[in-house]
Amino acid sequence: MRTQVVIIGSGPSGLLLGQLLGNAGIDNIILDRVGKAYILGRVRAGVLEEGTVGLLEQAGAAARMREEGLLHDGFSLAFNERDHRIDLHALTKKRVMVYGQTELTRDLMDQREAAGYQTVYEAEDVTPCAFDGERPFVTYRKEGVLHRIDCDFIAGCDGYHGISRKSVPERSVATFERTYPFGWLGILADVPPVGHELVYANHPRGFALCSMRSATRSRYYIQCSLEEKVQNWSDDRFYDELRRRLPAAHAEALIVGPSFEKSIAPLRSFVAEPMRFGTLFLVGDAAHIVPPTGAKGLNLAASDVHYLFEGLRDHYLDRSELALAHYSDRALKRVWKSVRFSWSMTMLMHRFPEGGEFGQKIQEAELDYLTHSTAAATSLAENYVGLPY
Ligand code: APR
Ligand code: PHB
Repeated sequence: MRTQVVIIGSGPSGLLLGQLLGNAGIDNIILDRVGKAYILGRVRAGVLEEGTVGLLEQAGAAARMREEGLLHDGFSLAFNERDHRIDLHALTKKRVMVYGQTELTRDLMDQREAAGYQTVYEAEDVTPCAFDGERPFVTYRKEGVLHRIDCDFIAGCDGYHGISRKSVPERSVATFERTYPFGWLGILADVPPVGHELVYANHPRGFALCSMRSATRSRYYIQCSLEEKVQNWSDDRFYDELRRRLPAAHAEALIVGPSFEKSIAPLRSFVAEPMRFGTLFLVGDAAHIVPPTGAKGLNLAASDVHYLFEGLRDHYLDRSELALAHYSDRALKRVWKSVRFSWSMTMLMHRFPEGGEFGQKIQEAELDYLTHSTAAATSLAENYVGLPY
């Protein structure tokens, strides 16, 4: 079998890249080790930058998002019993779109199927081969049969735990990592959100976030110890702790209801450099991970896809190698700015035990500065809505 680009991974990175390539007439096959249902069962954030929305439009997969997504002009920072709105649109003339990653992934899968582009789910032992030469190929096993796909390029869109980055000799990859001494305990419940925009709360008891998936489905998080166990957190206990971390107005407005999803996620910052190894390109979570505080994970995957699609399109359609040659440098420049922003939001909003009372006071002073300085608020806002590609 032969194709022009083999894409490993059917998450947002792989699906978005595959749709843009296919629509440009560039043949591609997506391989994923799990099935569609498993992928769609993942619960992930969904605050989309305008660049991400634009790429979904370009991919022809934005109709349902336009209909069901929620356009937000701002969000709130809550601290010291007060609530301060960051007016994103007034400060940057941009908005963010709140639309769950699961729905975005479903839309891209539907578009891929409608276009007849090839995807192999439950492909086992996917292995990128000979990507340091001119004739790369990928092998995989399906129902016990070994398959080989010869190609021109391989896009490693297989996430942090994927095979692509691990297939590169360790001496060729530089990694940079920061782990955080806490996790996020999150729930999904079919109750109206506490407000019409997101609320990020800094409290001495720990961080809390009030988010949403729609006007009838809420997503709440509280910072927790990494030793916590989900089974120790009833809904009542969760809601009580959430209320204690919110200003009174939000705590009183909170509408509770049974959660249908409850999980604890660790937080990590991670970058692998470079993002290209011969004919193998790392994309999205395969190359970088950010703590969810800045809602950048999905948006960074989208900007990687933008740069790689431009490079592959120019290679095939314009016979130009320039954009492909600069893929890694261009992507990493934006990655590191978003990694910095996500790290800074995490350092600002969470309780660090070793920081003590002094650390809490410093955070409150920075929050006070952010909410009284247009310059500071503008810097926060332009990072949150997304820096230019
Ligand atoms: N072989 C084939 N497929 C694999 C392999 C492998 N060895 N390892 C992982 N995969 C698949 C996974 O099953 C998954 O469907 O690659 C896909 C990777 O998808 P994601 O982890 O969602 O990564 P990405 O597409 O880059 O999306 C990034 O997802 O994790 C969130 O916060 C992150 O929002 C961001 C987005
Ligand atoms: C979410 O809705 O899951 C979400 C929103 C914003 C974040 C993180 C998570 O910063």
